[in-house]
Amino acid sequence: MTVSQTVSQTASTPLRQRVLDWLAENVPPARIEHILGVEQMAIDLARHHQLDVEKAAQAALMHDLAKYFKSKRLLEMARAEGLLLDPVDEANPHLLHADVGRSSARDEFGITNAQILAAIANHTLGRPGMDDLSCVVFLADSLEPGRGQTPELNVLRQASFEHLHQAVWMNCDASFQFLIAARRLIHPRALQTRNWFLQQFGRSGATP
Ligand SMILES: [Fe+2]
Ligand SMILES: [Fe+2]
Repeated sequence: MTVSQTVSQTASTPLRQRVLDWLAENVPPARIEHILGVEQMAIDLARHHQLDVEKAAQAALMHDLAKYFKSKRLLEMARAEGLLLDPVDEANPHLLHADVGRSSARDEFGITNAQILAAIANHTLGRPGMDDLSCVVFLADSLEPGRGQTPELNVLRQASFEHLHQAVWMNCDASFQFLIAARRLIHPRALQTRNWFLQQFGRSGATP
């Protein structure tokens, strides 16, 4: 199966092909599989929640453009964009690949749509009040089939279709559990994302 056949529901536009060609040069095959999994799940979620499928597909395809940039480059690009860096970013510059990926989508592929750019920037830490397109890419990144088939992941997958916004804080909680068990830092923006979505959408019946 070729890369362009993998996502059968997406027409292989010239932009999509340009991105795939760039990914083939800059990203290992296993990561491309993940990216295509995110693309397909974002398409499915966007269609289910009646969002713009093409925007979801584009944001998902470009969400990890900066995944393999070195720490020094991530920090330099983030500073050049005027991003406010948290001490957790300085300790773990890899977290910046989402915000820096936004710049790469703009500069490499001429993406100007604010929703698509935001969805790329928000895919790792989320953001309080982020829009539905960002929620879709945030969730698809964590829940695409390549992430595994545990009961916990399957609960989150089901929640992402049934309760898009509840699934965001549920997904944050699951990732915090992992980070705490591994004694890794938790980025304050992820906590803000979780709190915002829990406060806004925590009482609508979805329980983890
Ligand atoms: Fe990522
Ligand atoms: Fe990803």
